[in-house]
Amino acid sequence: MIKNIMIKKLSIIPAIFLALVGCNQPENSYELSSPGGQNTIFFELENENPRYSVFHGGNEIISSSEMGFVFKDNDTLGNNFEITGVEETSKDETWEQVWGEKAEIRNRYNELLVNLQEKSGKQRKLQVQFRAFDDGIAFRYVFPEQGIKDSIFIMDELTTFNLKDDGKAWWIPAYHEQRYENLYEASPVSALDTVHTPLTIESESGLALSFHEANLTDFASYTLFPQEGTELKIDLVPWADGVKVRTTDSFTTSWRTLQIGEEPKDLITSYLILNLNEPNKIEDTSWIEPYKYIGIWWGMHIGKYTFWEGPDHGASTKNAKEHIDYAKQLGVDNLLIEGWNKGWTPQWYESHMHEFDFTTSTDDFDLQEVTDYAAENGVRIVGYHETGSNIDNYLKQVDSAFALYNKVGVKSVKIGHVGSKLNMKEWHHGQFGVNYFRDILKKAAEYNLTVYFHEPIKDTGERRTYPNMMAREGARGIEYNAWSEGNPPDHVTILPFTRFLSGPMDFTAGIFDVEISQGYPGRNVHSTTAKQLALLVTVFSPVQMFADLPENYVDKPAFQFLLDVPVNWEDTKILNGEIGEYITTVRKDIDSDDWYLGSITNEESRDLEIDLSFLDEGANYEAQIYADAEGTGYQNNPMELEISKKEVTATDKFMLNLGESGGTAIRFKKL
Ligand code: NOJ
Repeated sequence: MIKNIMIKKLSIIPAIFLALVGCNQPENSYELSSPGGQNTIFFELENENPRYSVFHGGNEIISSSEMGFVFKDNDTLGNNFEITGVEETSKDETWEQVWGEKAEIRNRYNELLVNLQEKSGKQRKLQVQFRAFDDGIAFRYVFPEQGIKDSIFIMDELTTFNLKDDGKAWWIPAYHEQRYENLYEASPVSALDTVHTPLTIESESGLALSFHEANLTDFASYTLFPQEGTELKIDLVPWADGVKVRTTDSFTTSWRTLQIGEEPKDLITSYLILNLNEPNKIEDTSWIEPYKYIGIWWGMHIGKYTFWEGPDHGASTKNAKEHIDYAKQLGVDNLLIEGWNKGWTPQWYESHMHEFDFTTSTDDFDLQEVTDYAAENGVRIVGYHETGSNIDNYLKQVDSAFALYNKVGVKSVKIGHVGSKLNMKEWHHGQFGVNYFRDILKKAAEYNLTVYFHEPIKDTGERRTYPNMMAREGARGIEYNAWSEGNPPDHVTILPFTRFLSGPMDFTAGIFDVEISQGYPGRNVHSTTAKQLALLVTVFSPVQMFADLPENYVDKPAFQFLLDVPVNWEDTKILNGEIGEYITTVRKDIDSDDWYLGSITNEESRDLEIDLSFLDEGANYEAQIYADAEGTGYQNNPMELEISKKEVTATDKFMLNLGESGGTAIRFKKL
C-alpha cells in the first residue's frame, strides 16, 4: 500500500504549502495525506523546532503548532532538533469487534514516522508518529530507550493545536470536584477555560472537529486550555507534587487525535479512536457478554432505600430475592445489587478514605443465598464495588474480592470511585489514575470478569484491546435527576456529539415514572417516557440498565421495547442531528435483520421527516412505534405514549413527532 502514501520533499509540495513554509530547507518538511486525500498533515522543522499543521480539503484547520516537552529543571526537549530519518507506511485492514456499535471496522491510514535527534548537548532522540485518516488525524510521541539511567520527570508538554478559525466549543471544565460530571456549555474557543476532552467544536470554517486522545497508557491524560486567541495547548494532568509524568528510560504518549467531519453527526460514526488502539489481547472472549439489567439502585438514589444497613436497606436478602423475582417476571437476565457489603454509611459519598470491605456482606445479606436463588431463577447478579476512591484499601482486597465473585458466579462488576481525588490525593485523570484503571481492567480479565467503571478516567478506546471493558460513566448520568436539580432536556442531545465520542456510557436510562412519584419532592427526569425508550438507541452501551423501580415496568406495554432492543449491533447510522437540539440514530441488530431507531429532542417539540433507505431494499418491515402521545411533553403528561404499528419499506419517508423533551423509539421488524 506504500504507493498510496504522499510523502514528498518540499520541492514537490503544492503551492499552498510552499507559500506557508517560506524558505525552509527542503529536507526539513514533509507532507502526509490520508488515503482518500481528505486530510493532510504538514510537518516541518522551523529553526530546529518541530511544528505541524493540518489541512482538510486544502483548507487550513490547524495552523503551524508547537511540539515537544519540558523535563525537570527546565530542560526543554524540542528546540534543537534535526531530522535523522523518516519512515512511511500505510494500512488498510478491517477488524471485527467482540461487541460494539458496528461489527466490522475499517482501519485505513497513511503513516509518517519522523526520527528527530538533538543536534548538540544530550543529543536525545524523539520520534513523532503521524497518521492521516479520512476522518481525522493523529500523532504521538515516542521517546525511545537511549541509555538514560535517571528517572524522567515530564513537567510540561508543549503541544498546541493552533486553530485557524474560532468556533462554538462544547465543553465541560477540568479540575472540578465532580470529575467529568458537569453540564456541557457552549462558548467560542477563544473564551474557553481549561476543559476536558473530547472537546467538540463547530468551527466557523463549517467543519465539525473533536479533540481527544487514544490508547492512553502509563501517561497523564490531558486537558486543553487556550493560550492566545484560538490556540489550544495541551495541559497534562499533574500528580499531587506537580510532576506531570514520571517514567524511566522511555515513554510513549497517547495518540493526540483530531476527528474531522463535514457536520457534527459525522463524528459519531468515526472509529478513529478505536483504530488507534491495539488489537484485542484477550484470546478466549467467550465469557465476554453484553447484557441488559435492572438494579437495586434507583431506589437508593430517589431515597426509597438506603445503601447502608437499617430498616430501609436496599440490599437485604429479602429485597434482593424480591428483585430476582421481578427480573424473572419481567424477562431481564441480570440484576445489579449495590450496598451489599460492609462499609456503607450515610456519609458514604463524602470525600474521605472510607474503608469498604469487599468480601464481607452486611448482616442482613447473604451473598451465597442470593446468588444461588438468582441462578435457580435464571438471573445473574452483577457485582458492585464502591471504592470511595480509597484505592489503597481496594488494591489490598481486589484479588480476594474478584475471587469471591468467581466463586458465586458473578460475571460482571461495576466499580465506583466516588470522591474528588483518588486516595484523596491524585486526580482521577492523572498518570496515577490512568495506571490504576488499566491495572484493574487487566486484573478483571485474569478473573474472566467484565467491568464497567463509574467515576472513571476518560475512555480512550481501551475496549478494543481489552473487550472486558464494557462501559464507563464519565458524565452526568440519569441519577442526577433523582437528587439534584437534574439534567436539563438538552443534556442527552449534547452527549452523543461530545462524551459519547470517547466510548460507551453506562447512562442508565429507561425511567418510566419520569415524575419520580416515590422520590424526593420536586425531582424530575425532565423527559417524556417515550424519550427514555429512545435513549436505549441513541446511547450506545453493551451494558444497559433499565433504571426505574422494577414495579414501574410491570404490565406496561412499552416495556416490550426494552425487552426487544439489543445491546450489540451490526451497524449504526446517524440520520440527523444538531448538537444540543436533536438526534436520530438507527442501529441494526447483530442477531437479526431488524433495525431500531431512537430519536430525541431538547426542550423544543419538533417534527422530523426521515428517509427509511437504511432498510433493506425490496423488503417489508413492521414498524413498531413508541411515540409521545399528542400534546405530550416533559412538562405535560410526560408518561403518556402511543404504541402503533405500520408496514414500511426502504422507499418510504416517515414523520417523527417529538414532544418537548420527547422522543420516538421504533423497532423495524423484517417481515
Ligand atoms: C455513584 C455512581 O454513579 C452510582 O451509580 C452509584 O450508585 C453510587 N455512586 C454509589 O456507589
